[in-house]
Amino acid sequence: MSVSVIDGKAFSARLQDLVGREVAKVKADHGLHPGLAVVLVGSDPASEVYVRSKRRRSVEAGLASFAHELSEDTSEAELLELIARLNEDRSVHGILVQLPLPDHIDADKVLDAIDPDKDVDGFHVLNVGRLSTGKPSLVACTPLGCMMLLQDLLGDLKGKSAIVIGRSNIVGKPMAQLLLAQDCTVTIAHRFSRDVPKLCRQADIVVVAVGRAGLVRGDWVKPGAIVIDVGINRITDADGNSRLVGDVAYDEASQHAAAITPVPGGVGPMTIACLLANTLTAACRQSGLPDPELTLNSK
Ligand code: GUN
Repeated sequence: MSVSVIDGKAFSARLQDLVGREVAKVKADHGLHPGLAVVLVGSDPASEVYVRSKRRRSVEAGLASFAHELSEDTSEAELLELIARLNEDRSVHGILVQLPLPDHIDADKVLDAIDPDKDVDGFHVLNVGRLSTGKPSLVACTPLGCMMLLQDLLGDLKGKSAIVIGRSNIVGKPMAQLLLAQDCTVTIAHRFSRDVPKLCRQADIVVVAVGRAGLVRGDWVKPGAIVIDVGINRITDADGNSRLVGDVAYDEASQHAAAITPVPGGVGPMTIACLLANTLTAACRQSGLPDPELTLNSK
C-alpha cells in the first residue's frame, strides 16, 4: 500500500491565506480589525521562538498584534492585572498567555482569568465544558488543526473508530471530544491502558500525543488507517546528529497507514494557523458577526 504523506505545512499556509482574506474582508466591510495579544513571562528559549512565530504569522495574516513581554519575576497579581486590562480592551479579541509559566505563578488561575470569549487557546474551563457539551466554543489549536486535516482527508468521520493516545488537557482530551462530536467511536489510551497495540490495531484513525519518540510501531497500525502524530521529540541518532521525530515510528507505520503526518511538517504548522483562525472567529463573535467560513477543501 502506498502511503499518502499529509503536508501540514502546505495546508497551514493555505489556511493562513484564507484567514488573511477573511480578515481583509471584515476590515473592509465592518471596520473590524481583529487583534491578538500574546503574553510571554520570562525567557524560556523555546517559548521565545514560539511567541516570535505567533506574532510574525499574526502580522502576515493582517491581524493587529499586541506583544507583552514580562520579566521572570513578574508576580501572579501583576499578570492577573494585565489580563484584566486585556479583557477590557476592545481592540484585543484574542489573548494567549504562553505556557509554561514560572513556578511561582498558578497557570490554571491565570488561564481561567482570561475572558472565555477571548480565550483563543481554548484552555478556559468554560470553553472545555462548551466543547464537551456540544456548544459553540473556542477549541484548542492543536486538536483543531488535527481535526481539519482529518476532515480534509476523509470528509465525513461518522462511525469511524478512533484512538487517541495521550490524555493531556491541551491535546488528548479535546481531540477525543472533537472526534466524538463527529460521531466517531473513541478510545482514549494512556499509560495505564492495557494492550495499547491491540486497541490501536482496531482504529481507523490514530492520534498520538504523548511525547515518546517512536512509541507507535508499524504493527500497531491497522492497514489503511490514518495516523496523526502530534509528538515532537528531539533525539540524537546513531551518527550523533540531533533531529526531531514524532511519537510514531514513521517508516514502519508508513508501511501500513493510508495517510500519515510527518514530523516535522505535519501537525506542528497547523497549530499557529488555527490560532489565527480562532482570533478571527473570536473577533467576529464579539462584534455580532457570523462565524467566518474557514473550511479548506483540497478535493
Ligand atoms: N506552550 C506550548 N504550546 C502552547 C500553546 O498551544 N498555547 C500556549 N498558550 N502555550 C503553549
